[in-house]
Amino acid sequence: MDRRFAIVVAVLLLLTPYASLAKKFTRCGLAAELKKHGITDVRNWVCMAESESGMNSNAVGRPNRDNSRDYGIFQINNKYWCRNGRRGGDCNIKCEDLTNNNISDDIQCAKKIHRRHGFRAWYGWRNKCQSRLPDLSKC
Ligand SMILES: *[C@@H]1O[C@H](CO)[C@@H](O)[C@H](O)[C@H]1NC(C)=O
Repeated sequence: MDRRFAIVVAVLLLLTPYASLAKKFTRCGLAAELKKHGITDVRNWVCMAESESGMNSNAVGRPNRDNSRDYGIFQINNKYWCRNGRRGGDCNIKCEDLTNNNISDDIQCAKKIHRRHGFRAWYGWRNKCQSRLPDLSKC
């Protein structure tokens, strides 16, 4: 076996467990998950998640200007909605639970944010999703 090839294979094998920990959704995969939770305007939701986190359910944002942080696929803020280390905030949830691969709780909390403020609550949506939405017709 070519030595360089062997090294590439070894690196890939080493990285595999990490790759499987990070869950990056596809547009269609996320759309299906959102529909399961009764969401109908999925194009806006997918656009928002894409813009906020790259549809990465493990995303933790860099500190915001007010030192708060945003968690998970919808980048939910720990100033109002979740609490670090224990359940709390308006969603009564632990922020760390918003960064695992199970986005059911993220969706529940994001629905609450959306009910209260609409999509305008998300800068990512305001910046990227008002003019053009992703095409999900092939999902
Ligand atoms: C995801 O989390 C919810 C609670 O937030 C739980 O009811 C559900 O069973 C979990 N799904 C999986 C696949 O673990």
